[in-house]
Amino acid sequence: MSLPSSRRLTQLLPSIVAASATALGVSGCDSDGSTPIDTTGFEPVACSAEGGIDFLNQLVLPVPVDYLELRPVASNGGPEGDAQKAGDPCATATDLQACLAAIDAVTPQEGFRLGDCVDFCPEYALIVNAGDAVDVLTTPEDARSRVVPVDGPIDAVFVVELAGYTVTCDAEARGVKEVNDGYEVLASRITSACDPVETTLYRLHVASTGEITELESAVESSDEGSCIGRRPVGLVPARARGRNVVAAHLADVARLEAASVFAFDRLEAELREHGAPTRLLRAARRARADEIRHAAVVGALARRYGGAVPRPVVEASPARDLESIAKENAVEGCVREAYGALVGTWQSRFAGDRRVRAAMRTIARDETRHAALSFAVAAWVEPRLGRAAQRRVAEARRDELALLVHSAARPVSRALVSAVGLPDARAATELARRFADAVG
Ligand SMILES: [Fe+2]
Ligand SMILES: [Fe+2]
Repeated sequence: MSLPSSRRLTQLLPSIVAASATALGVSGCDSDGSTPIDTTGFEPVACSAEGGIDFLNQLVLPVPVDYLELRPVASNGGPEGDAQKAGDPCATATDLQACLAAIDAVTPQEGFRLGDCVDFCPEYALIVNAGDAVDVLTTPEDARSRVVPVDGPIDAVFVVELAGYTVTCDAEARGVKEVNDGYEVLASRITSACDPVETTLYRLHVASTGEITELESAVESSDEGSCIGRRPVGLVPARARGRNVVAAHLADVARLEAASVFAFDRLEAELREHGAPTRLLRAARRARADEIRHAAVVGALARRYGGAVPRPVVEASPARDLESIAKENAVEGCVREAYGALVGTWQSRFAGDRRVRAAMRTIARDETRHAALSFAVAAWVEPRLGRAAQRRVAEARRDELALLVHSAARPVSRALVSAVGLPDARAATELARRFADAVG
């Protein structure tokens, strides 16, 4: 086992990413490589400042209106969320006050969904105001009838979302293009919500009548293998939920980031108890502060996609001897957290969502420092163990590295590869092998 210093890791991880990308022939934020679906000519749909698609300002309606609003239904147990609005309410009304009061009074009790959804499903009512009339549309059929004929790209995307497909904004291999007799849309749908999560990518044709035909589809599958951060002892398994697989993944990562706060709390306390040098205690404290920030940043990203971040639950566990501390540090720090830093570095280059790329740049830098702390802790703690204990720690680290290389080959949801930049099975295998060679 080589023990890379902080400076060496800072150079090592980006160089593994660059070498893997070169070996795989991928560059920039386009890690997609081969897709069985022809994605040529599709324009990604831009994200609004709020993170979703701004439908209402881009719909082309057959009959002019003064005002449109997508108002969330709050009574279904889902999130209330923000309303989307466009236009000027009651701009051409003869009785302005009555018209404004009518819009204000709308409290939808039921609504339609936009996109696919597992178990955290916001619903909306579409409020349409023209002159004095205020219509409240609560079914997908009614909403669709106000939009057809489909004569703009966002009309097509809206119709597709009303039908239960998701078009992720600002993402690779998602979007819309005009064709001779309507539009084609690249969208996805969750086809299995558990074990493994499975999504399917579709190339859809949307006719001007709003009729949707599935032209092509390709199954994408996923495991839940988020590998970011140091898991504390006693972390209770939980399942993050979200409106789609990207939301659920980000919510789970945010939960793990928050859980890492407990891990560094404990590491600092244990190091102090065993008389570790101040520089290690200080580094653990700084890492704890980093993890609080990471949890907030990833939590915000998760919520933008419609994810619900569960609070991590960590059960109390008894004080541990040096060997247990060394073993946990070897597995969680030297392998998992360091590999997490490597994956984060990859994501900072390849995530289709530029906000994820930006967040991962900072997170990967911090995680690289945390990985260096793990190696520094190993360098301090392991010489204090007996020979047999040292061998057991080395074995635990080797086993975890082997597990990492093995599980890297598992398929990853295509939505996660494109939006969040997770390495697909091929890229993860390349990264894990190079990582194991470098630190094993
Ligand atoms: Fe970390
Ligand atoms: Fe973190």
